[in-house]
Amino acid sequence: MAAPKRSSTVYLLELGGEDDAFAAREAASAATGIRRIAPGIAVARGIVPERVRGLAYTHRASELLGRGAADLESARAVLEAASIDREGSVAVRATDVHGSSGVSTERAERELGQILVDRGFPVDLEEPDHLLRVVFSAGVLDGDASGDALEPVTDDGDGGDGGDGGDGPAGEQGSVCALGWLAAESVRDFGARAPTDKPFFQPGSMDPLLARAVANVAGARTGATILDPMCGTGGVLVEAGLVGADVIGTDAQAKMAAGARENLAHFLDAENPSPTGANRGSWHVGRGDATRLPLTGDAVDGVVFDAPYGRQSKIDTHRLEDLVSGALAEAHRVAPRAVVLADRSWASEARAAGWELESSFERRVHRSLTRYVMVLERRTA
Ligand SMILES: C[S@@+](CC[C@H](N)C(=O)[O-])C[C@H]1O[C@@H](n2cnc3c(N)ncnc32)[C@H](O)[C@@H]1O
Repeated sequence: MAAPKRSSTVYLLELGGEDDAFAAREAASAATGIRRIAPGIAVARGIVPERVRGLAYTHRASELLGRGAADLESARAVLEAASIDREGSVAVRATDVHGSSGVSTERAERELGQILVDRGFPVDLEEPDHLLRVVFSAGVLDGDASGDALEPVTDDGDGGDGGDGGDGPAGEQGSVCALGWLAAESVRDFGARAPTDKPFFQPGSMDPLLARAVANVAGARTGATILDPMCGTGGVLVEAGLVGADVIGTDAQAKMAAGARENLAHFLDAENPSPTGANRGSWHVGRGDATRLPLTGDAVDGVVFDAPYGRQSKIDTHRLEDLVSGALAEAHRVAPRAVVLADRSWASEARAAGWELESSFERRVHRSLTRYVMVLERRTA
């Protein structure tokens, strides 16, 4: 698998969803040196385009041309000053994150397009050779304003190369317009896998966007093996398999294991490569107990599980605390990394099982349910 593209190029990431910190954490599976600079926008030093195509909460990565304040004057100044080492037709697409800057994107597209025309580029709105993305965003970053502790993340050991790619200081925020040439776009086909449209559906199934994001954070990619020991309907496994990972699932209920098989067969047993370009991974699902996995130590690269919630009743053999502690211990035995979703933190149970809490996120699902996402790394002695 290709290493991230490295050069002095800085990339502009357009984040989606409601939680930029979580989006940036997912993006770290496809890019290095990520730093959020304004709501909905991050910069990165290197990207792996095929992995960007598989991201849930990043829509696009572009080669950053320059950035300024969130107004049209600044955008024009950036474009006029930029050196453009490209040939062929162009188009401009502008967006205003959450309508925060108040800039007219239509006017921005027109005026910036005119600058390119004046510089001799033909415009092709349908199929341009190069698409200029222009993103305006004004506002305060949610959560930790700077890097969300992302700088030290060394996904595959390919991060942490020092320097910030010549970009602004960490923590800078407020009013940004960023211009960049589109380099990679994520495939937005999640709607086709809405839980209720799958062959096997149960209430409590995970939304495919979240499932893809946690699969990515756990390390799903071609050549990696991902385990969901409480796989339910198999939502996480489907998403991990679509980005090329080999997947293994267990569930204590025979009905769930059978249903997950049905879903995996439906989405992964296709002959064509998936829309992200990855070949679909292999899959294996069986009935099993997450606290006593039929796997040898270090059998997989990453574990994801969505623990039963307190009000779910299908836990015949364990108290919830014992189930989660047991599953955390087993995950620690079989993988160096885990992503755990639950209706509470379970952080102290994770530490007791030998995990280090790399990062954690809270995602409000609805009024009475907040989902906690814990990213766990095996503690190194
Ligand atoms: C919250 S659900 C997972 C939902 C799943 N992410 C989905 O999208 O369908 C939790 C699952 O854990 C399973 N479970 C409960 N106790 C278990 C155990 N000891 N071993 C394995 N699975 C168990 C339940 O049968 C249930 O399917």
